[in-house]
Amino acid sequence: MTALSVNINKFALVRNARGSNMPDIINISEKCLKYGADGITLHPRPDERHAKFSDLTPLQNLVSKYEKKEFNIEGYPSKNFIEKVINVNPDQVTLVPDPPGALTSSFGWDCEKNKSFLTDVIKEFHNNNIRVSLFINPSIKTLENLDIISTDRVELYTYDYAHNYLKNKSEAIKSYIAVVRFILNEFPKIEFNAGHDLNLENLDYFLKSINNIKEVSIGHALICDTFEFGLEKTIKKYLEITSK
Ligand code: PXP
Repeated sequence: MTALSVNINKFALVRNARGSNMPDIINISEKCLKYGADGITLHPRPDERHAKFSDLTPLQNLVSKYEKKEFNIEGYPSKNFIEKVINVNPDQVTLVPDPPGALTSSFGWDCEKNKSFLTDVIKEFHNNNIRVSLFINPSIKTLENLDIISTDRVELYTYDYAHNYLKNKSEAIKSYIAVVRFILNEFPKIEFNAGHDLNLENLDYFLKSINNIKEVSIGHALICDTFEFGLEKTIKKYLEITSK
């Protein structure tokens, strides 16, 4: 069983296109949760072109009404981001190394280069009882210091898997299996999330190949699927895969 966290940034992007509150992302998030999603993810970027920092508190208020659902905030840990996240106090923060203008997250942390920075930042979140997940590449050489950094979880960046899946899925999953094995051996307390470019076609094989994924966060494909199936049916289709 893997938790499904719906990344609602793309709904926020549509909302921002007209400067009004349509679609209302709180209302959409509430529907996602009622239809069975286990959580909501939001990634406010510094330019707020889709999610806004002012969306965080209403979303936290919504998700905290549900006993077992979680709010996950993603982003680069700038001073402003850290302050805002601590103020909102979500269940989880996922730290990404994106530069400010990034179109989307496109690489994971180098834990050697960022060792002391990440260690300090994670300490700050832990002091405020917020679980931390670090966005990582499927590459063992970037992960030597995970125990010192003291992260609770890692989020496997699944772009490479998703983009190689159609060519050769058993090849596409190999580096992920290797990274998961390495972490389970070296740092057995660390848990796993996964995300980026996961969809109705490639999700099942990923979760069957790596059976200890705690949470997937899915945005782009899930929102595209709602054009065809509607929100309720789309969430159910993803849950059929994640709840196996
Ligand atoms: N995880 C992270 C760190 C992301 O930045 C994103 C995209 O915002 C996702 C997961 C979800 O990716 P997708 O929108 O391709 O499902």
